[in-house]
Amino acid sequence: SDSGEAHRPMIHFSPERHWMNDPNGMFEYKGVYHLFFQYYPGGNKWGPMHWGHATSKDLFRWKEQPIALYPDSLGYIFSGSAVVDKNNTSGFGKDGKVPIVAIFTHHDPKGADAGKQDYQNQSIAYSLDEGMTWTKYAGNPVLKNPGIIDFRDPKVRWHEDTRQWIMTLATKDRITFFASPDLKNWKKLSEFGEKVGAHGGVWECPDLFPLRYKGKNYWVLLVSINPGGPNGGSATQYFLGDFNGKEFTPRDTLTRWLDYGPDNYAGVTISSDKQTPVFIGWMSDWRYAQDVPTTRWRSAMTLPRTLSIQGEGNNLAVRTYPLDFPTSLISTRYTLKNFTFGGPPDVYNTQKDSLLRMRLTMPVTSVAIQCTNGKGEKLVFGYDHSTNQYFIDRSEAGNTDFHPDFPKIIYAPRLTSSKTLELDFILDRSSLELFDGWTSMTAIFFPTETFRITGSSIPYNFPVEWYVEMLNPARSPA
Ligand code: FRU
Repeated sequence: SDSGEAHRPMIHFSPERHWMNDPNGMFEYKGVYHLFFQYYPGGNKWGPMHWGHATSKDLFRWKEQPIALYPDSLGYIFSGSAVVDKNNTSGFGKDGKVPIVAIFTHHDPKGADAGKQDYQNQSIAYSLDEGMTWTKYAGNPVLKNPGIIDFRDPKVRWHEDTRQWIMTLATKDRITFFASPDLKNWKKLSEFGEKVGAHGGVWECPDLFPLRYKGKNYWVLLVSINPGGPNGGSATQYFLGDFNGKEFTPRDTLTRWLDYGPDNYAGVTISSDKQTPVFIGWMSDWRYAQDVPTTRWRSAMTLPRTLSIQGEGNNLAVRTYPLDFPTSLISTRYTLKNFTFGGPPDVYNTQKDSLLRMRLTMPVTSVAIQCTNGKGEKLVFGYDHSTNQYFIDRSEAGNTDFHPDFPKIIYAPRLTSSKTLELDFILDRSSLELFDGWTSMTAIFFPTETFRITGSSIPYNFPVEWYVEMLNPARSPA
């Protein structure tokens, strides 16, 4: 076999070799984006965790860098975040160099094996060369475990109103907030979530950030849970509310999902001064992530997505939308009106690889779009008006037998009451990301030959507008 190179995404980040899970420590500084990630360089399944590293100027073309953090006597390097400490609150800065500080979980496997409770602690490391090399702080850990088995994934941001760092930490079945003046000394502020939200699994990888909507500030709290997602497996829920520098107060007790598909987990936003937060998630599901049919590498990240708030009446929600592609990644772009897939040949025939973005805009009606290949495999997705649900059917999309849950049909509710159906999707070799502005769905699949879009259920001359972007690979094909 080709060890999975034929499945390798062309516009999503994947490591050259070996196992990857959560995005970590994402930050932007001087126009360069840094992505760190849970990484095991010793194999293609989860193992002793390191922080792998990649950099990019546009969030699409990534260059893999040397491993940033290695396990040490305090344990494996689990998930966490990074901040640009502009005011040198940490004192790590030297000769005018701005320190970048990474805050992560040290997971002590020996403590875990010995049946201890306090084997996850928070530690820090700093970089004085803009994120390329790192020194661990001699005083680690900086936040000791009080005896909670799941105590991890610190996400830190500066809170301007109270002029302090806020850490959002996953603590078993809830979030605990901590504050610090210098990233080294932390004190507990409050807890949130024991009685709200989805609790089908342990809480992990949170994020807390503000968003403006109609002149008002809101705070969004992301919480990944595993298992317990809307299609089984791991998924990310969110709460919309307020944060006053001490406590998070939700507006309501609804359980909302950032992505209904099974393959978007542990995602958080990039630490940056830019106004609109950009989110990246791990594009897999803990149920089968270690068994997917790629061997040289395992897992990719989702595309970068902007997060904002939108409303329909009193109904507010976080809008997740893919970041625009840089024009250099778009090979052709056109709009088609009122045609059927029996019509213009461009969409089928010029697809060099399974790589494009399309947006359909039409009166609300059921629609199914089909991708096929010469092996008789297919991927079908769309919207079912009778149940008001989007769906992705990957049950015959090639290699599906590595896990019994993988071939299940994936569903998501349509949450807007707009009379216009908007279906925006991005197809890469082994992933589909689907958006309507209110609902998003991400699913991976493994055809044994490249898929092409070959049909849709839309009647001839139906008033649908297709906006098409044929894409160039963001990495050189293997
Ligand atoms: C989420 C997670 C985190 C943890 C990391 C370990 O996928 O379980 O909670 O820090 O992965 O690799």
